[in-house]
Amino acid sequence: MEKKKYKRILITAALPYANGKIHLGHLAGAYLPADIYARYQRSKKRDVVFICGSDEHGVPITITAENEKTTPQAIVDRYHQLNKDAFQKFGMNFDNYSRTSLPLHHKTAQEFFVKLHGAGILKEKIEKQLFDPKANMFLPDRYVEGTCPKCSSPDARGDQCEKCGTFLNPLELLNPKSKISGEIPIVRETSHWYFPLGDFQARLERYIAERDEQDGWKENVLNYCRSWFTEGLQDRAVTRDLNWGVKIPVKGYEEKVLYVWFDAVLGYISSTKELSNKLGNESWKKYWQSDDTKYVAFIGKDNVVFHCIVFPAMLMAWNDNSEVKYVMPENVPANEFLNFEGQKFSKSRNWGIDVHEFLEKYPADSLRYALAVNLPELRDSDFYWKDFQARHNNELADILGNFVNRTLTFAHKNFKGCVPKLSQLSDTDKTFISELENKPKTVSESIEKYKFRDAVLDTMNLARAANKYFNDSEPWKTLKQNPNQCGTTINLCLQAVRALSILFEPIIPFTSQRIQNIMNIDNSKDCLDWDTASKIELKEGHQLGNPEILFAKIEDEVIQKELNQLTPAAGSTNSQTLELKPTISIDDFKRIDLRVATVISCEKINKSDKLLKLKISIGSDERQVVAGIALHYQPEDLIGKKIVVVANLQPTKLMG
Ligand code: 2FM
Ligand code: ZN
Repeated sequence: MEKKKYKRILITAALPYANGKIHLGHLAGAYLPADIYARYQRSKKRDVVFICGSDEHGVPITITAENEKTTPQAIVDRYHQLNKDAFQKFGMNFDNYSRTSLPLHHKTAQEFFVKLHGAGILKEKIEKQLFDPKANMFLPDRYVEGTCPKCSSPDARGDQCEKCGTFLNPLELLNPKSKISGEIPIVRETSHWYFPLGDFQARLERYIAERDEQDGWKENVLNYCRSWFTEGLQDRAVTRDLNWGVKIPVKGYEEKVLYVWFDAVLGYISSTKELSNKLGNESWKKYWQSDDTKYVAFIGKDNVVFHCIVFPAMLMAWNDNSEVKYVMPENVPANEFLNFEGQKFSKSRNWGIDVHEFLEKYPADSLRYALAVNLPELRDSDFYWKDFQARHNNELADILGNFVNRTLTFAHKNFKGCVPKLSQLSDTDKTFISELENKPKTVSESIEKYKFRDAVLDTMNLARAANKYFNDSEPWKTLKQNPNQCGTTINLCLQAVRALSILFEPIIPFTSQRIQNIMNIDNSKDCLDWDTASKIELKEGHQLGNPEILFAKIEDEVIQKELNQLTPAAGSTNSQTLELKPTISIDDFKRIDLRVATVISCEKINKSDKLLKLKISIGSDERQVVAGIALHYQPEDLIGKKIVVVANLQPTKLMG
């Protein structure tokens, strides 16, 4: 199939719930890839709009408000501002960051509902639902707790049992209890409007198959969609018995609101409208209602069904009944999850770090880079403090920072801080030039295929190649022996610094800006577009600014402090002083054979967060032991270390 030609690109990133602080997992899931993509497209001089905002409705918000004994409005006001600031500090380059509590959004969502309702697409159904007689309200899924009918876990939620993963209907729970009043709920009838998703299944399957051919959808996303299709799409209620959300403009529904997912996806449209209002134009229509717009929706894997199935079906239903038609997502690049030091991020267990806290201590670009090389594109990945330190010190500082610094320092010391003349080219020069020329193209190819990790590795490889070129050319020797050749080397190194500042811009925009300042180049007067990165653009004699250290090394102690803070988790019982075990006699003590052992090898145990398997030598023989220390140590750090073991503990079998 021939590739479609697009005139503009609409990029959205999932609207995070304004009920908590965003953490590194959110960034790696949807936001960093979206930002890299948007910045790259801008650098390619394409017409781009990049949209996000806060999702401020639904049970996640009302439950947080109840837990914090405040109002939903206070919750969304607080977290909208916090998250907006965090995104800004992280360098997210949104054109607009809106919120779904705005009247403009309510109007947009109501218009959609009315259109589908008026066209007779939605079906009304009467259903049985749990009602809290004391609180005088129907209980949405997550407001009910009880015993799981499958695994008997006593604290299953109305929508899902966390223990066995089964999706539940609140009516299936055994011994249900209202989370609001603690009362036993009663069953009452209530009416709701349903969207007939099943009627759209065949079209949705075709829609995804066509897009896959055009734009190469990610296999993980396709698999999620396929499994939904195999199950068969069902009618889905789009209204809820709740008093926080978008009101339903239909008689008899005054006490109900739209289901949060029905309105949230429309938040992308209303946020673009808000941008148009700010700019005093109607450009939102150009992005949303022209068929030569390419729409790319970045999300995390937990949002796939809503973006690949529910939202497209809503748009199809609108388009079937309207002259003006909305553009459908061309691709929905969804990442898997990022874990933190081997475990899921968890607010309640205090496991992880939020973006604000991180950026108070470390540069945004170091985080952007460390996350970008390790994005969970194909499978879940992990953030490890040690890895973060290594990426910062060994790659950003030692490769990129070092190359920029040595080149600028050399030019200042030996060429009065000016770009020297390019003279006759050696084979080494030519090889390096061809590498430079090729780079924008290969990095582009990866980004256009949403392979951001590859793009980042490829970009850093240019900095590696540049260091090698500097070393191989030995300008400190040719300075005396062959000054023209030395000038050529430094000229090409400076061209490479310029190219790196352009190609690294989507990944580490703050550093890119600093490099351009140091180089005394500026996008407003010197063209620094993506496609110029391959060119020899710096003119002989151009005056450079002063070199500066781009990345100060992060010391071991600093990272050790982070690791120490991780455990025991603040607020958990671990942080309390451990109770002493009962006293033992000297004879008991004598029976314990303590030995100093050396760790020979060490590895993680599959399916266990805590256990490490160690092979140790106690001098007389080698043993295999298992230790519950995986949260505190990396296996590779233990090899060669001396440890104390109880050498006469009865052998046992653990986790196979
Ligand atoms: O998972 C979430 O955080 C949702 N608030 C994402 C919504 S994306 C879109 F629909 F707005
Ligand atoms: Zn269960």
